[in-house]
Formats: sequence, structure tokens, C-alpha cells
Amino acid sequence: MSFIIIAIDGPSGVGKSTIARKLAAELSCVYVDTGAMFRCLALSWGKQGCPESDLFLQELGEQTRIYFEDEKTFCDEIDVTDEIRSEDISSLASRISLFPSIREVMKKKQRALVKEECEAGNYKGAVLEGRDIGTVVFPYADHKFFIDASPEIRAERRYLQLREQDVDADFQEILSALVERDHQDKNRSIAPLRAAEDAIIIDTGNMNIDEVMQHLLESVDRTKIYA
Ligand code: DC
Repeated sequence: MSFIIIAIDGPSGVGKSTIARKLAAELSCVYVDTGAMFRCLALSWGKQGCPESDLFLQELGEQTRIYFEDEKTFCDEIDVTDEIRSEDISSLASRISLFPSIREVMKKKQRALVKEECEAGNYKGAVLEGRDIGTVVFPYADHKFFIDASPEIRAERRYLQLREQDVDADFQEILSALVERDHQDKNRSIAPLRAAEDAIIIDTGNMNIDEVMQHLLESVDRTKIYA
């Protein structure tokens, strides 16, 4: 039996999670938030004092159990859904993602997670969101999308979201943190953030979520799902 694999890559704060989650639900696929997986490791790494060793990180990566259940993220059986969303963890995750050992461990974990979930018979395939899904983790994915928007638009969306939640926010601070993370993600030597050559690029600058969803659904070949 074959499973459909859909890769959704793009920079921070572009709305990949909302889009990927919706698409997965619509297509009866498992949703895999690979950024959350990097964040879980960053959390464990931070708790251990951030030792800068490739071997240490490899062992940490191999030993840490990460899984998703009922829209929650678990790291070694602890629900870390909210804890991994802090600004500190965002920048630690970006730092940790530079290590070659971590990229290798995460690639294996992501592939294994998809295989396990699909073979258990609960899903028709997987929708994965991240930075290197279409280029490295699943280069033979059935569909690849690269979702983009300017840093200013992404920062403004984040700012409004925080204000709506009554959280104190500074637009300039959000923008500089985004620009710094973009720079780190795009310029690392291994698996940098970039669109795969065969990815469909969608600039969401002037689009709402429903319009993006429509675009994605029109591009997905549903015959592959029910094959
Ligand atoms: O998508 P996110 O903001 O939750 O991801 C957090 C960090 O993890 C991001 O700065 C880079 C890293 N990451 C990565 O290197 N590769 C992925 N496939 C997903 C995330």
C-alpha cells in the first residue's frame, strides 16, 4: 500500500502549522510538525546546560522520545505543547538545528514517525511541515509546497496575534528576531531553508488561510490518496 507524502516548507511565522494541520485533516493524513520536534530537543538541551558537542547532541536526540497526541506535543512523556513556544526555545531550536548530528537524527525520527503512523493503518499519508522536508527528509514527496511571505508581513501577523491574546509585544523586536532566524535557517551549511526545485511556491502576503488552502487542495492529486 502506498501513502501520500506532502511536504510544506517555509520560514518562521508564515502560517505553515495552521495550513498543514488543516490540509492533513482534510486529506485524512497524519500531521507532523517537525519544528516542534526541534523545539523539544532544544528544551532538553537547555535543561542540560546546552553542551556544545555533536556527540552529546546525537545521544540526546536518539534518547529523547518525541510524539504527538490529540494536537499536543510530548517529549519523554511530558506534555510540552506550551513550553516549547517561548522565544527562548525558538532561538535555541534554531541554534540546535545547525548541528549535523541533530539533522541526521531528526531526519531518521521524522521518517520513522511517518512510517509508524501510516503502517498502523490510521492515516492515508502524511503532511509534514518544516524547513527541509521537500529537499532532504522526503525528496521524493508526492507534493511539495514552499509557503512564503515577507518578514514584515509575518512580524505584523505575529504582533497582532500576541495583542489579541493580551500579550505585551514590540513589533520591532518580533521583526528582528524573525530576520535573525531566517538568516540562520537560510545560511546553515546543512539542509538550509530553501524551496525544492520542484516545489510550488506560494506567497501568502495577500492571501488569507482559506485562499491558501484552496490553492493547495487544487494542486493535490487525490487519486494518489485512495490508490
Ligand atoms: O517551525 P518552527 O519555527 O517551530 O521551527 C523551530 C526551529 O527548528 C527553526 O528555527 C529551524 C528548526 N527547524 C529545522 O531546522 N528544520 C525543520 N524541518 C524544522 C525546524
